[in-house]
Amino acid sequence: MRISLASDHAAVAHKHAIAEHLKAAGHTVTDFGTGSEASCDYPDHGLPATVAVAEGRADRCVLICGTGIGMSIAANKVKGIRCALVHSVDTAKTTAAHNNPQVLAMGARIVDIPTALAMVDAWLTTPFETRHQRRLDKITAYENAHPSC
Ligand code: RB5
Repeated sequence: MRISLASDHAAVAHKHAIAEHLKAAGHTVTDFGTGSEASCDYPDHGLPATVAVAEGRADRCVLICGTGIGMSIAANKVKGIRCALVHSVDTAKTTAAHNNPQVLAMGARIVDIPTALAMVDAWLTTPFETRHQRRLDKITAYENAHPSC
């Protein structure tokens, strides 16, 4: 898979660990920054990484900031994107099965690196349960009916 990654300054170590983990599993990773612990603004990195999925240049995206909240808010503004903020392997598995999110967000101040890697694996390997599709269709219908939302 082609997977885009982005973090802010609070989550560089988590992002590098996830990048190495994904590359070792055979994925192609594109890192949209940031590359340092100097303070930056999470939308500057998270939005381009998310748009790469919306435009078909990446299959999935992982976003990490201090809490994951800012990144998830930003990513969910991108048309057609479902970004899930997760904090455990169970929530990562459940969102894959129920919400089919193309983008996963997490907080480096919330979960340690081993948990982050396990959450990414759970999200990538858990199949979507199609009985939930009609709920996703309702979100898409709302989005299409409100182009300025
Ligand atoms: C940065 O200090 C922090 O606000 C950011 O990483 C994130 O938690 C925002 O939601």
